[in-house]
Amino acid sequence: MTDVRKPEFPSEGETLAPAHPNGETLSLLARRRSTVAKCMTGPGPSDEQIATLLRLAARTPDHGKLFPWRFIVFEGEARSRFGEILEARLREIEPGGPEERYAFERARFERAPVVIAVISEVTPGHKIPEWEQVLSAGAVCFNLLVSASAMGFAGQWLTEWYAYDETVRAALGLKQTERVAGFVYLGTASEPPTERPRAEPRVERWSGPRG
Ligand SMILES: Cc1cc2nc3c(=O)[nH]c(=O)nc-3n(C[C@H](O)[C@H](O)[C@H](O)COP(=O)(O)O)c2cc1C
Repeated sequence: MTDVRKPEFPSEGETLAPAHPNGETLSLLARRRSTVAKCMTGPGPSDEQIATLLRLAARTPDHGKLFPWRFIVFEGEARSRFGEILEARLREIEPGGPEERYAFERARFERAPVVIAVISEVTPGHKIPEWEQVLSAGAVCFNLLVSASAMGFAGQWLTEWYAYDETVRAALGLKQTERVAGFVYLGTASEPPTERPRAEPRVERWSGPRG
């Protein structure tokens, strides 16, 4: 049985199993649910666990081996320092708001013990279409959520207003070719989530050209 904190990573060129039949994995995927950030508390993953989670998250299909993503980890005091930036920016773009609104921004990243920004970077004009580079970064976010769940942590993938704000982007050091794919909040659920409505897969069997 694999240690939940220390999966064994392969070395380059190693022969790997083509499939990993595993009921626990299917159960995780069938029952996994995000935990809203406001219902998150500690503990979060340790530095060693974060390192493992990021290695797992980055084992994502990636056309052209561009590795079109990077991570920014927020933990401890960095969360409140980032919160100060959010608060200051909100005061600028929405002045005169209620003080509670600004206080919320100041504490926004402290809702969870760890927040990991997944940054998507596209190489414009590359033979691998930009769309595919962006999709790969999205897959990293989901891989991170699933890996965190298997390691015993609650998670939520958020973007919220600050993913798209120019001043916040600058504070994160994003280049023009970079975007926030997600802020993945990680911690422990203070109350269990309940299942949400799910759409049945919209599917058809292709049987020839239409029209
Ligand atoms: C790219 C992306 C951005 C998201 N941003 C937000 C957000 O800003 N605010 C929010 O309430 N939910 C956001 N969500 C939705 C939640 O992360 C989550 O998908 C939803 O709560 C239920 O998901 P579950 O099926 O994992 O339980 C986002 C989802 C994705 C894929």
